[in-house]
Amino acid sequence: MSRDVDVGVILAHQAASGAYPASPSFSQYPHAWLRDGSFVAYAMDRAGEHASAARFHAWVARTVLAFEREVEDLVAGAASGIVPDEFGFLPARYGVDGSWRQDGWPNFQLDGYGHWLWSLGEHVRLARTPPLGRDLGRAADLVGRYLGAFWHEPCYDAWEEFRSQLHTATLASVHGGLRALAEMRGDDAAARTGRDIAGFVHDECVSEGRFVKHVRNPAVDASLLWLSTPFGLVSERDPLMRATVAEIERVLVVDGGLMRYAADTFYGGGAWVLLTAWLGWYHARSGDAARARACLDWVEAQRDAAGSLPEQVPTSRSHARFLRHWTERWGAVATPLLWSHAMTIVLRLELEGLPVPTGAAAR
Ligand code: BGC
Repeated sequence: MSRDVDVGVILAHQAASGAYPASPSFSQYPHAWLRDGSFVAYAMDRAGEHASAARFHAWVARTVLAFEREVEDLVAGAASGIVPDEFGFLPARYGVDGSWRQDGWPNFQLDGYGHWLWSLGEHVRLARTPPLGRDLGRAADLVGRYLGAFWHEPCYDAWEEFRSQLHTATLASVHGGLRALAEMRGDDAAARTGRDIAGFVHDECVSEGRFVKHVRNPAVDASLLWLSTPFGLVSERDPLMRATVAEIERVLVVDGGLMRYAADTFYGGGAWVLLTAWLGWYHARSGDAARARACLDWVEAQRDAAGSLPEQVPTSRSHARFLRHWTERWGAVATPLLWSHAMTIVLRLELEGLPVPTGAAAR
C-alpha cells in the first residue's frame, strides 16, 4: 500500500484549526492529544507535507499560549516548591478547537509536551523553515520552562496510567523535547535540564543491564523504544538499548505484533500497529532492514478493506473478558487511528533509505 493512502487518511481528518484528532470516528478519541499529534506532524514532515505540519504547530502554539499566564504562575510557584493539583497542570489533550476537555480522562501527562518540542524541532529541520516566529517561539519557550519546572513530578505515563510513578519513556520524551528546544533557541537551561534527565534515567531507570518501565518497576514497556528512537537519550546500538529491545521482543511480541506491556488489559491487551511500526523504525535505524521489513509486513496485514489502520488488534494472548468488556463499553477498536498511519509512514520512509536485504522482494 502506498504511503499516499496514509497521508490521505491524515489529511482527510486534520481539523480546520490544524489539530489532528486521534480517531474521529471512535467515540472516545475525537479529541487532539499532543502525543499523537506531534508524531502525526512529524510523519507529515517526513512525507513532504510541511503545510499540514505547520498548521498543527501553529494550532499548538495558539492553544498553549491561551494558558500563558497560568503556566508562568505554575513555574513561579514551582520555584517555591508549590505543586499544583491534577487540573492545575496543562492538559494532555484538547478539543480540536483548543478547548480543555475535563471529562474524567487522566490529565497530568508530560510526555506530549516533550513530543511537541521535539516534533517542532524536526519541522524546522525537515521543512527548512526560518527561525521560529513570535508565537511559536513564545509557546516553545513557555513549554520548555514548564517541563524544566516539573520533569521530576510523577505523572500519568504515555498510556495514561500509573499516576504516581516516574516513567522512563516520559523522561526520555521530555529529554528529547528539551534538547530540541536547546538547539532551536540556544537555550542553555533546557540543555542542562536535558542532561540532568539523562543522568537520572541512567541512575534510576536501569536494572539488570536494561531500561525498565518506571522507577522500581523492572518490567519492560514498548514505549522504552523511544529512548533511542527518536529521542536519542542513548543510541540504537547502546548495549543497554540492545538489551532492552531484546527483552521487549521476548516478552511483548505476540503473533508478529507488539503489545504495550505484559499486564495490559485495554481491549484485551492486543498488539499495537503504531508500536510494531516503531519496532521496525528502531531496527531500520540500527541497520537491520530484514527485521524492519517484517514489522512493516505485519502492519500492512492489519489494514481493513478501506486501507484504514486500527489502534490495536487482538492476538492469541488477548484477554477475552477484557476484550469483550471494552468492546461493549466503547465499541470496536479505534479505526483509523491517525497515529498508526503516521508511524507506518515513518517506517516506510526509513526503509526506503536502506538497501533491500538479499532474498527480500523489492517493493
Ligand atoms: C492511549 C494514548 C493515546 C490515546 C489516543 C489512549 O488509549 O493510551 O497513548 O494518546 O489513546 O490515541
